[in-house]
Amino acid sequence: METRIDEIADGIYRLSTCVPDIAPPAGFTFNQFLVLGDEPLLFHTGPRRMFPLVRDAVARLLPPERLRWITFGHYEADECGSMNEWLAVAPQAEIAHGQTGCLVSLNDMADRAPRILADGETIDLGGGRRVRYLDTPHIPHGWDAGVLYEEASGTLLCGDLFTQLGDGPALTEGDIVGPAIAAEDMFGYSSLNPGMGTTIRRLAGLAPRRLALMHGPSYAGDGAAALTALADDYDRRAGAALAEAGIG
Ligand SMILES: [Fe+2]
Ligand SMILES: [Fe+2]
Repeated sequence: METRIDEIADGIYRLSTCVPDIAPPAGFTFNQFLVLGDEPLLFHTGPRRMFPLVRDAVARLLPPERLRWITFGHYEADECGSMNEWLAVAPQAEIAHGQTGCLVSLNDMADRAPRILADGETIDLGGGRRVRYLDTPHIPHGWDAGVLYEEASGTLLCGDLFTQLGDGPALTEGDIVGPAIAAEDMFGYSSLNPGMGTTIRRLAGLAPRRLALMHGPSYAGDGAAALTALADDYDRRAGAALAEAGIG
């Protein structure tokens, strides 16, 4: 396996490793995003066993010990499996995550105490970059779930939202909603709930110009339209599930 590096927005790098054994023959990508700045930030660490690959990829962009912020969507191996390896490599690094994740998992599992981010709180990375943390509980899964929005480039680091199979281009202007619906049909990875559409439409309100997918290509274009279409599909799924249960 090798890790590809592509700049998907000004100063935001996608580190992408395809694992061909997952969902063959298409394979499945694991992407981390490095946001440069005076205080460089990593969104997703990758699984613990992938740490050497991700560390070496980061080292092609900056000395790994310079990493300042370790962030991710929720507590799960591919999101944060190597957080403690990163804390060991980068002495100034802090994990930053929402309140639920810190209280439920990270205060115990992380080797250094995390910084708790309130919904809507920002971190100034310097160099004109600022990230905003947004709580998205249970969306697409994990009650500690959240996303980051990099304001200067209009990039939504959207984690598992829009998950798709395959090892496509680093950046696409093509359809990302259809492949996401197909992957949801295959994996059933979302905690389907009636609030999904509302929460995803709130992200559409940011009008992002880039969507950085953890599993799939990054998207350049009308992020609000893509998020709204995804929200509509989850409303359809939730409505169908309720109707099947005789509730809707
Ligand atoms: Fe996940
Ligand atoms: Fe993931």
